[in-house]
Amino acid sequence: MVPQDEARVSVHANALAYGAGTFEGIRAWWNAEHEELYLLEAAAHYARLERSARILGLRLPVPAAALVRLTAQLLRRNDVRSDAYVRPLLIQHGEVLTVRMHDIDTRLSIAVTPTPGDYIDPDGVRCMVSSWRRTPDSCTPNRAKVTGSYSGPSLAKTEALDHGFDEAIMLTVDGHVAEATTSNLFLRFGDEWVTPPGTDDILEGITRAQVMVLLEEATGKAAVQRRIQRSELYTCDEALLCGTAAIVVPVVEVDGRRVGDGAPGASTLLLGTTLRAIARRQDARHPEWTTPVYGEGVPA
Ligand SMILES: Cc1ncc(COP(=O)(O)O)c(C=O)c1O
Repeated sequence: MVPQDEARVSVHANALAYGAGTFEGIRAWWNAEHEELYLLEAAAHYARLERSARILGLRLPVPAAALVRLTAQLLRRNDVRSDAYVRPLLIQHGEVLTVRMHDIDTRLSIAVTPTPGDYIDPDGVRCMVSSWRRTPDSCTPNRAKVTGSYSGPSLAKTEALDHGFDEAIMLTVDGHVAEATTSNLFLRFGDEWVTPPGTDDILEGITRAQVMVLLEEATGKAAVQRRIQRSELYTCDEALLCGTAAIVVPVVEVDGRRVGDGAPGASTLLLGTTLRAIARRQDARHPEWTTPVYGEGVPA
């Protein structure tokens, strides 16, 4: 372990010029009453990092299960006692001019920083459908969280802000709804929730999986994964975005049209409150989603 300013990468590293790498973002939630810090879905994030590395053909030097233990150690060594954000990053650290995935030194780093403020307005976001599309899987593997694949979402976010919106919704190249720039999307029609399938060029979010579980528990009905057309964004009764950074936020407007009655959706707000409470273990449901960093059951 080294202080952050000693963790350096060369300007010649392949990762920088070619975006050859993969990463994760994991939240750790502090519970003052328990005096405990809980990692949220760390095992699932490291399992996705392992899958991303496999897709890219990069070698993950430590098995996913051991990375949860290392992350807990990192947080303990830094005596982190507040909400925190953990950023594992596996990159081509080697310096080779050639563009390729094989035979280049890779390096894994795990950094911890305090959680920034709200990533996106939790009270409701106004979205536009972006002119920037998601890259198809035949160009960039979207189910891998690839460092170099964020130029499209970055352009989409800037375009949305430039046009006075809060966030962008990106379509697939053939015009189906995929996701927002760094979060997944759910729509409600009556008592049915729908979300784009993993085959529609989304990153299959870990929060998305949690939302599917919580929706099924709340409604007794599984959310449907199906293709979604753009015009459905204008006719749904409720819409939400979800992701590690965003958590769960209501979408109140798309392309200037109100979603439902234009107020944040009641089930969306409840999902956000529930997920936060589960993350801090203030709600007894799904303790398997959280790993305590200091206390009992802490991985050695
Ligand atoms: C493109 C993209 N989609 C969706 C998500 C949400 O995924 P998760 O819930 O695993 O954070 C993220 C964030 O990691 C993302 O970068």
